[in-house]
Parts: sequence; C-alpha cells; structure tokens
Amino acid sequence: MENFVAYNPTSLHFGKDVLNGLPQILNRFGKKVLLVYGTGSIQRNGLYNHIINLLKSMDAEVFEYSGIRSNPVVEDVDAAAAVGRENKVDVVLAVGGGSVIDSAKIISIAIPSETPAWNYFARRAMPRTAVPLVAVLTLAATGTEMNPFAVLSNHAAETKGSFSSPLMYPKHSFLDPQYTASVPKNYTAYGIADLIAHSLEAFFGKGEEATLSDRLVYSIILEAMEYGPELLNDLENYKLRAKIMYAATMALNGLTMHGRASGEWGVHSIGHILSLLYDVPHGASLTIVYPAWMKLMKNRLNDRIKLLGNNLFGSSTAEETIEQMELFFKYIGCPVRLSDLGGIKPDADEIYRLMVQSKAATYVHKLNEDDYREIIKLMM
Ligand code: NZQ
Ligand code: ZN
Repeated sequence: MENFVAYNPTSLHFGKDVLNGLPQILNRFGKKVLLVYGTGSIQRNGLYNHIINLLKSMDAEVFEYSGIRSNPVVEDVDAAAAVGRENKVDVVLAVGGGSVIDSAKIISIAIPSETPAWNYFARRAMPRTAVPLVAVLTLAATGTEMNPFAVLSNHAAETKGSFSSPLMYPKHSFLDPQYTASVPKNYTAYGIADLIAHSLEAFFGKGEEATLSDRLVYSIILEAMEYGPELLNDLENYKLRAKIMYAATMALNGLTMHGRASGEWGVHSIGHILSLLYDVPHGASLTIVYPAWMKLMKNRLNDRIKLLGNNLFGSSTAEETIEQMELFFKYIGCPVRLSDLGGIKPDADEIYRLMVQSKAATYVHKLNEDDYREIIKLMM
C-alpha cells in the first residue's frame, strides 16, 4: 500500500427534508448570503422557492448570481465573485449540480483575494482564505459536494481545467434525493456513468496493492450497475435516487483513494477536451473515452482490466471486460462513439492538437502522440 493522508472536512446532510436544517447552518456564518445557481432547473422543480423561504426564515440578506451553465465558464465565476466582494457576503450558497458547485468553490476563494479566477487554474495564484461555502446538490454525478476539486472552461485559453485546494471543500453539503427526481433521463445516465468513471480513475491510479480500496471501487460500481438501470425506468423513485446519490458522493470523496499515491485521470483529461470543443455533457464524454482508453491499454494493463472484469461481470479476459463495460454504457443510453453524438462533426486533427497542447493523459499511465492518434480513431 502507498502511504496516504485521509482528510475530509465536509459535513454531509443526507436524506429526505434535510434542507430544513439549512438556516441553522447558514446562521453560523452570517446573514449576507450569495446564492449561486444555474439556468432554471431549481425554479422549475420548486427548490428555488423553498430555499428563498428558508433564507427569509433566518432574515438573510440575499444576493443572487444565476445562469451558471453546464460545462461552466470562468467569466461567470469572475462576475459572481465581484457581486460577492461588493456586497461583503458572509457565505456562498450553491444550489445545483457539479457546474454550479464547482463555480461556487472558485467564487468562494476569489471573493477575498480579488484575483481573476483563471490565475488559480494557470497556477499563477494560490488561495489563502475563502468565504465559507455551503452546497445544496441537485444532481448525483460529480462528487463535488464532498471534495476539494473544481473544473472550469476557459474558451479563450482553449482549456477545460481543474483546480483544487483544501479551502474548497464545502463546509456543509445538503443532499435530499427528492430534489434529484426532476433530473432528466439522459443526465441521470451521465451521472451514473460519471460515478463509475471516478471509481475507475481510482482503480487505474498508482497503488495497486490497495485491495480494500479496490473492493470499495467494485462495490460502488456494482451499486451503480444494479440500481442505475432500475432508476432510469423509474425516475421519481426516492429509494433508487438515494442509492445513486450516495454512490456518487462516495466515488469521489477520497474513500477509494486510501492506499494509492494518485488517481489515473487520463480519461477525464481527454473527456474535458471533447466537452470544451463540442459542449458534450461531462458523463457522456467519459462513456466515449473509457472504452477507447481500455482498448488502447488492453495489453499494458491486461491483468488490472481482467481483475476488474472478474469482480464486476465474472468475466475472465480483458477483452470481455471492455466489451461488458461498453455494453453497459450503451444499455443506459450513453454514447460510446463520437458518431453517437448528434449534431457535431468531430475533427480528429483538432482533438489531437488539444491533446498535445494540454498534455492529455500524461499523469500516471502516459500516452504518447501515437497513442493520441490511436485513441481518437477508437473514439470515432
Ligand atoms: O442549469 P441548471 O438549472 O443547474 O440545470 C442543470 C444542467 O442543465 C440540470 N440539472 C441539475 N439539477 C437538476 C437539473 N435538471 C433538473 N432537475 C435537477 N434537480 O442538469 C444539467 C447538468 O448540470 P451540471 O451541473 O452541468 O451537471 P453535473 O453535475 O454532471 O456537473 C458537470 C460539471 O462538473 C465537472 C464536469 O467537468 C462538469 O463541468 N466535474 C466536477 C468534478 C469535481 N468537482 O469533483 C469531477 C467531475 O469529474 C467533473 O469533471
Ligand atoms: Zn467526472
């Protein structure tokens, strides 16, 4: 096993009606609240009104920044941070999925520093302090509710990049599965795919002796593979929503990383290029890249892929594992090739150029430029 430090300071409030405890928590930080949310889903499902009533009940002074979009952009974060700074807010309250919460994490470190947000991603600045962040999660997928990571796009710099700091763990995250019932079928499936992908990034990371962490990976993926398809046929089922929501949090909160030196993250780095170029939803980008990556790595990681398949599918070869994984992604309605995405014309040279520029997949299992050409072919 590799040496490791286990640390996670986020208090997770999970279950039906946990939001009733939100005012008491916010009150600990102050009355001036910057409410950050997305493009309308919380108004449509009633959560916005519920939150506003809860904020009224504590006499909060509320400043709003809305319109954070999926695959969030740095410009919104800078604009929201300016609102928070001008009004000297005490706490940032993020209500949404990964895009909203990731944006709010950077907003919370940008408010006190006045640093343009991209400076963090470009490693030109380090945060020293943060306005406390409280999150209300509405979509089970990324694990951002209980981790220190944020991912933003900067189209001018041709990058979708990530940044992390211990200051960016939400202080409290509220997860009421009832508010995920309105997530449409496609995004529900992308969330299931994302949580599986996070488990796989841990599994293929550095530190293969971490057998307990490997077993946690199998358990999380098996949970998703058993209950995910049931949920897709019964989108308003609370019990199934709860199972998937909990699994998504556990897939990227550090639990599967004990005993490993790092995660792999190559597939994510390539997925981010697809999202940057074609605005592909995050989970859908991963179901295109993962089968291709596993095919490319079949000989290099044969034993590991075989072990995974044996534990997930009872399969005995790497080929079978890859086939089963791809079949599952298809079964839940996710794309597994770029050609499955309607309305875009993938440009292999452009994808290749951005892979070279961003040094994609060179963290643990390093891909070279011939590998880039090969994986692009496999994704087409
Ligand atoms: O704009 P809103 O109104 O929020 O609508 C969203 C959006 O259209 C909608 N939605 C969210 N909750 C809903 C809902 N619709 C109906 N009912 C609800 N309850 O769903 C759409 C997608 O939302 P988004 O937040 O973009 O999805 P997700 O949670 O998958 O987040 C994706 C982002 O997170 C990043 C991704 O790269 C991507 O930018 N990631 C963050 C990670 C992290 N911080 O640890 C790790 C991940 O690997 C990932 O990279
Ligand atoms: Zn992900």
